[in-house]
Amino acid sequence: MRSKQVMADAEAVADEAAGRFAMHARSAVAAKGRFVVALSGGATPRALYARLTHAPIDWEHVHVCWGDERCVPPDHPDSNYRLAHDTLLSKVSIPRENIHRLRGELDPAQAAAEYEAELRGLLPEAQFDLVLLGLGADAHTASLFPGTSAVHETDRWVIGQFVEKLNAYRLTLTPPILNRAAHILFLVAGADKAAAVRSVWREPLDPDRFPAQIIAPLRGEVTWLLDRAAANLEDTAS
Ligand code: 6PG
Repeated sequence: MRSKQVMADAEAVADEAAGRFAMHARSAVAAKGRFVVALSGGATPRALYARLTHAPIDWEHVHVCWGDERCVPPDHPDSNYRLAHDTLLSKVSIPRENIHRLRGELDPAQAAAEYEAELRGLLPEAQFDLVLLGLGADAHTASLFPGTSAVHETDRWVIGQFVEKLNAYRLTLTPPILNRAAHILFLVAGADKAAAVRSVWREPLDPDRFPAQIIAPLRGEVTWLLDRAAANLEDTAS
């Protein structure tokens, strides 16, 4: 099931995302004794992470993973891990062993293989309770970029690949594991994303051009949280 909610601005998106994160955490911990979430990267989640530091979440029973990572050390300004560590994980009582970092400092193939083994141990049902995703202006999500083979991966859960347009390596979860998530939450804000939102929602299926279209969970639900600026080219009536 795919749905969207349009809010006034990025702050309202972060408020709504924080409420949903806490709700999914509460129900997963109540049902299974733990909550396993994959965090997204980029800048958008910063406002969400700040809100989560004081949300009613039982961090002792939360496991945090990443949907993608730049191939840089964990203290690098571009590191998705560093963003989450500095704005959230260093401020809540999450056990260190519950933080499952994608090791961007390693050779990409080695980092991907190690992370896949770690995830297969952590997720015997191969299902995240929640996956957070962002959207690039080119309609990429996680590090599934237009024209890259990762978009069409059908077996591996994690791959490392060179992304021409970035002239850099990236590590990313792939559609097989992302699409098994119970809940997927896209957080998208800003006018620069409006064209990508419209393409993903309105253009015929073409993941090579619009990779975020590949996100279609088998049984889970996808909710897009958009601010008005990101939604303004999209028919928000539907
Ligand atoms: C990354 C992200 C990427 C991000 C989008 C949006 O590592 O950059 O995983 O998919 O979510 O590029 O980024 P912004 O939130 O910075 O616009």
